[in-house]
Amino acid sequence: MMRRKITIVGAGATGATAAHILAARDYADVVLTDIKEGLPQGKALDLNQMGPVLGFEPRITGTNSYEETAGSDVVVITAGLPRSPGMSRDDLVTTNEKIVGSVTEQIVAQSPDCTLVILSNPLDAMCHVAKSVSGLAKEHVFGQAGILDTARFRTFIAWETGASVRDVQALVLGGHGDQMVPVVSAATVGGVPLRKLVSEERIRLMVERTAKGGGEIVQLLGTSAWYAPGAAVAEMVDAILLDQKRVLPCTAYLDGEYGIDGLYIGVPVKLGAGGIEEIVELDLSDDEQAALEQSAEAVRDVVGVLST
Ligand code: 2OP
Repeated sequence: MMRRKITIVGAGATGATAAHILAARDYADVVLTDIKEGLPQGKALDLNQMGPVLGFEPRITGTNSYEETAGSDVVVITAGLPRSPGMSRDDLVTTNEKIVGSVTEQIVAQSPDCTLVILSNPLDAMCHVAKSVSGLAKEHVFGQAGILDTARFRTFIAWETGASVRDVQALVLGGHGDQMVPVVSAATVGGVPLRKLVSEERIRLMVERTAKGGGEIVQLLGTSAWYAPGAAVAEMVDAILLDQKRVLPCTAYLDGEYGIDGLYIGVPVKLGAGGIEEIVELDLSDDEQAALEQSAEAVRDVVGVLST
């Protein structure tokens, strides 16, 4: 069987981490492209040379052009500026709109039938840019944010309860901003509702730390996180290329689901070979639904700044 092809645009820390994880999975070829000369080539060479040690085929290409991306099945867009301390994701909108727009145009020229997974910030707005520039169906243009935000929430819950993170189920919905919505009613540890295990006050602190989780890392590192974001996008690519039908929180285009129309926002979806195969509609509490609507309003404000 011919190997599938994944392109990752942006050979920064997030793109390279995703390339690392996906290459090690060994079911697809990976193309890493970036405008910076030498960067994708150097990282690709280094990643290839990890193959003999970890036991995967060294088939990662680094390039500054788009020709090598032709015929990609999935394209991950991480290109754009990351945050600096004190910046919100929304401060990046004008610069990253231009970058994501131009990248998308060049990608679909080479891979007209690809599925696009967006990571660039502000995430929800950048999904709108990619959809409008690519002309692809909404099922094939979506973003990664919810898996990362949920991973943060799950980590804090595991620490708080002393349980394995593998047994912590949780869900974070909404826009990828400080108004994201950790769904406490859906959080369980080994099937036991979080509210039975942890006080409301401790839950409130975990919810707040999750919502500000990206900013906490920017404060420490001076730039955005990359390990968990890279792993999160690799999980999405696996779900698509291996047709896993995973139910995962992703940034999807809503057409009335959750009472939200014409907007990208984080909701649970079924992810498989067809891209977003279903939007999963949860029964949210009134408070959670109101928080989701508030988060949607914050996303609409940023989308309103776009020129496309
Ligand atoms: C984060 O939350 C980079 O937005 C990403 O860390």
